[in-house]
Amino acid sequence: MTLTNPTQCGLPPWHTVGPLLDNADAATYAPAPLGLLEARQAVADHLNGAVVPAHVVLTASTSEAYSWIFKLLCNAGDEVLVPAPSYPLFGFLAGLEGVVVRHYVSVYAGGEWQVDTAALGEAVHSRVRAIVVVAPSNPTGSVLRMAELAAVEALCAHNGIALICNEVFAQTCGIYGAWPADGVRSVAGRSTCLTFALGGLSKACLLPQLKCAWIGMSGPAADLDSALAKLEIIADTYLSVGAPAQVALAQLLAMSTGVQANLHQRLTQNKNVLQIAIYDKPMTILPCFGGWSAVLRLPLGIDEELAALSLLDHAGVAVHPGNLYDFADHGHWVIILLPEPDAFAAGVAGLRQAALSWATDDAHD
Ligand SMILES: Cc1ncc(COP(=O)(O)O)c(C=O)c1O
Repeated sequence: MTLTNPTQCGLPPWHTVGPLLDNADAATYAPAPLGLLEARQAVADHLNGAVVPAHVVLTASTSEAYSWIFKLLCNAGDEVLVPAPSYPLFGFLAGLEGVVVRHYVSVYAGGEWQVDTAALGEAVHSRVRAIVVVAPSNPTGSVLRMAELAAVEALCAHNGIALICNEVFAQTCGIYGAWPADGVRSVAGRSTCLTFALGGLSKACLLPQLKCAWIGMSGPAADLDSALAKLEIIADTYLSVGAPAQVALAQLLAMSTGVQANLHQRLTQNKNVLQIAIYDKPMTILPCFGGWSAVLRLPLGIDEELAALSLLDHAGVAVHPGNLYDFADHGHWVIILLPEPDAFAAGVAGLRQAALSWATDDAHD
C-alpha cells in the first residue's frame, strides 16, 4: 500500500502512448532551452490559457523544476519555506542547491487542514526567497483556500519573494467529495507576486518515465521578465527534456482527461474498500479532496512506526508511517490508493487484521 509508481498499477494506456512517441519530427535535435514552442503551447492550453506559451518552461520533472527555480532565486544558505505535512523530497531538492528548508505547518482542525498563516508570516525573514505550496497536498489531499492563497501572496509581494505552487494533483481536485467553493484549483496566471505553477506528465497522464513537466510563470511584469531571462540560461545549460515527449505533448495532454477518469474510478473504489473495512475499527480516514493517498488516524497509544513494522512482519503489508511526511503529531499511516483492486483489497485485509489485534490489546489493557 506504498505503491506510488503509476506505471505499476495497470492504468496508463501504453498501447496508445507508444505510437505517439514514434514521430519523425523527433528525429532531429532542435535545442530550445525553454522547450519547443508547440509543446509550450500545449501546456498553456492545458492550463486553460491562464498563461501564454512564452511564459511556460519545460523541465524533465517537477523535481527538476524546483531545482531550477531554487538556482534562479537562491544563493547558498538562502531559505525556502515548505509545508508540513508534505511529501519528503524538499530537503533533498533544496539541499542539493545549498538551500535551507524551513517548514511551516498546516493544522488539522474542525475536519480540515489549514495553513497557519500567522506562523508562516513570522517565518519570513531576509534569507527567505520563496514559499512552496502543494495543492492539493500530498499526502493530506487538502485544499488551498482562496483566503490562504491571498495571505500567502500578500506575504510574498510584501517581502519580494516568490510563490511556488505544486499543482501536480490538480486534476484529482474534488474526487472524494464536493470541491469547496473557495478551493483554489490553480495559481497559473496570478500576478500579485512572482508565481511558478508546477505540473507534469507524471501525474497528469501517469507517465513519469516520459520525463516531461512544466512551470507556468506569472507575476509583476518586471519580475517575470527578469526571472524568465535567467531561467532560460539555466535551462539552456541542461536542455533536459527529450524531443519525443515534447513533440507528442499536445496529444498526450489530450489523453489526460480519459486517464484521469480511470484513475478517479480506481482511487474512489480503493478508498471505499478501505472505508468499509475499517468502519468498525478504532481508526479513521481523514477527509481529503484530491491526490492519491488516504491518511489514517490511528487509535491513541498506537506507535505509527512500530505498528507499521508489525503489519509488514505479520501480514506482509507495507504502509507509510506519518513521520515520513513530517506530520506534527504522531499516530498516522499514509495509504496509497493506486494499487490494482485485488492487491489493494489484500492489503486492506491485512490492515483490518492488525486493527483487530489492537482492539484485543486494548481489551487486555
Ligand atoms: C506532490 C508531488 N509533486 C511532485 C512529485 C514528483 O513528480 P515528478 O515526477 O514530476 O518529479 C511527487 C512524487 O510523487 C509528488 O508527490
